[in-house]
Amino acid sequence: MSIKSVKTAVFPVGGQGTRFLPATKAMPKEMLPVVDKPLLQYAVDEALAAGIERLVFVTARGKGALEDYFDVARELVDSLKAKGKTAELAVLEATQIEPGRMVFVRQQEPAGLGHAVWCARHVVGREAFAVLLPDELLWNPANPALKEMHEAYLQLGGNIISVLEVPDEHTHRYGIVSPGAVDGLITEVKGLVEKPQQGTAPSRLAAIGRYILQPEVIDVLAAGKRGAGNEIQLTDAMAEMIGQQPFHALTFTGTRFDCGDKAGHVTANIALALERDDVGPAVREWLRSQKF
Ligand code: G1P
Repeated sequence: MSIKSVKTAVFPVGGQGTRFLPATKAMPKEMLPVVDKPLLQYAVDEALAAGIERLVFVTARGKGALEDYFDVARELVDSLKAKGKTAELAVLEATQIEPGRMVFVRQQEPAGLGHAVWCARHVVGREAFAVLLPDELLWNPANPALKEMHEAYLQLGGNIISVLEVPDEHTHRYGIVSPGAVDGLITEVKGLVEKPQQGTAPSRLAAIGRYILQPEVIDVLAAGKRGAGNEIQLTDAMAEMIGQQPFHALTFTGTRFDCGDKAGHVTANIALALERDDVGPAVREWLRSQKF
């Protein structure tokens, strides 16, 4: 039986963003810009580039701006049209998603990433689905991360997560892979552990926020088992599937920015600005003028 394309992506966007206070006091952290695009737009663009048709946002109270962002800003469109501002209109158009392709589901308690994914269960149904954590900006315009994972998925089936080697002293921040056979960029996943205590990680291969999963993971999540930080962890649910279904990690080959971290977010802004023709030269000139 041939493996079917993945059509649904889940974006857990219910987090409070306390690391970015006070900016996040009145706006979702996913709306923080990297140059001029909200963080969430990068993840949505990545999903669309992978052929995703249905986008499921697991939001929470106070996150209404996300819904408005993807809606048509009618008054703005009309006034830009009246002024003949075609470039700005094109920018807006690129943020617009066809009606019916976006679904917003509320996560009513901050019970963890696994809980957020479980909240999307009725929209996901019984097909393989993707999960993208927008905090993780995986930058590889020539070969976007989820697209590359999807291609691997169509060959391998089962479950695929994106990984990257992190320094030993950072393994306690991530879901870490216990690796099996390695074939180029593909590593067999023998086990997974969420935020292992320092010095106990089975490897330095960390999950970096992109997943293609089989729907059975939702059945595991339904049991509501609590893990690290007393939260329902996606990593723990995935770990239970290993041995029952194929499970692989694909090493990401682009540039990763952890935009859930202030330094990562600032770095992403500088790096992406430097790549741009409009703002790049001015930023480069300023950087050159500095004595570090
Ligand atoms: C989540 C996941 C973790 C993963 C990380 C990637 O952790 O639980 O397995 O490695 O994202 O950023 P969080 O950053 O939400 O604590």
